[in-house]
Amino acid sequence: MSANKPVLDILNGKMLSSPPVWMMRQAGRYLPEYREVRAKAGSFLDLCFNPAMAAEVTLQPIRRFGFDAAILFSDILVIPHALGQTVTFSVGEGPQLAPLKDESAIHGLRKEADGTILAPVYETIRRVRQELPPNVTFLGFCGAPWTVATYMIAGRGTPDQAPARMFAYREPAAFGKLIDILVENSISYLAKQFEAGVDAVQLFDTWAGVLPPEEFMRWCVEPSERIVSGLRRQIPGARVIGFPRGAGVLLPRYLDRVAVDGVSIDWTADRVSLVRQVGQSVAIQGNLDPLALLAGGEALSRAVDAILRDFAESRFIFNLGHGILPETPVAHVEEMLSRVRGTANRTTK
Ligand code: CP3
Repeated sequence: MSANKPVLDILNGKMLSSPPVWMMRQAGRYLPEYREVRAKAGSFLDLCFNPAMAAEVTLQPIRRFGFDAAILFSDILVIPHALGQTVTFSVGEGPQLAPLKDESAIHGLRKEADGTILAPVYETIRRVRQELPPNVTFLGFCGAPWTVATYMIAGRGTPDQAPARMFAYREPAAFGKLIDILVENSISYLAKQFEAGVDAVQLFDTWAGVLPPEEFMRWCVEPSERIVSGLRRQIPGARVIGFPRGAGVLLPRYLDRVAVDGVSIDWTADRVSLVRQVGQSVAIQGNLDPLALLAGGEALSRAVDAILRDFAESRFIFNLGHGILPETPVAHVEEMLSRVRGTANRTTK
């Protein structure tokens, strides 16, 4: 093997004695150097579509912490934006889009994302690729269709994704159309990310956990399965990490059908039974509670140690169970890393 990239090696099927580590949302507001670039960028989407700045913030957490993976700095909502549904982010409010109210609104979307809108994302990838240390795995990503659709239908984040769930019950054919558009566009978007230089991609299905089993199969599992197989027709052997957050007891059904190389799990997952179910057949990524990282101290040490113990025999990538919270002290990230890397002073029983 030429380059030694621990995260990619694990996705390729290897076992490593000490786990590689990165964090979801590792480029973000908890970092002073991110906030500095963010303040100069204009809007959040201006930052996502500025290759020099997006490359810089992608690399910041690698420089500061030496993480084993860099994740492209962008957002899952660039796809709706490129499909013609303008997205804005206002400070403290999260994303805002004009909600898709009915079937005709779905017909009004572009069938194919506007390539000129997404071009800067591929340019960011080429720039990061050139500067990334050779042992760091570069991850691209997109949102899974269900999760992206929840924002497109509601026009914003919602606590229970009720607008999209209602739409899917009332107008399943129209909702299916939207999912189809997202599947096709996600495949070509991810394929282009590989062509620009990522090593693997993560499929974020943040809201997978709110659906009953039948809907989970129809709106999370099936579209994800189509993305993975469609992507591999274009990029043979493409490595994919799936993140069906909150899937809980339905996780085995996801893993039966979606041929991911790795699965990212949230902090509520039952680690021991997952290991029993999957063994080393799939890489496991996760699953520190972001609140344990925020708490720091004893709570953090214990949580990290339990994860390391439970996944000692797994193909394992250490990560959080969801994104890092903006108020997390940088010192807690350092504590977490020294614990994972085995350089911490183990005074905790
Ligand atoms: O560091 C990384 O992980 C890479 C960049 C990344 C961002 N968003 C940057 C971001 C990634 C992978 C995402 C994915 C994303 N975006 C998801 C799926 C994963 C998850 O966290 O559940 C979702 C649901 C979104 C949509 C989104 N983007 C929301 C709901 C929000 C507002 C909430 C918030 O945290 O502010 C965003 C904004 C966003 N995306 C920020 C960042 C760094 C914060 C905005 C800012 O800095 O001004």
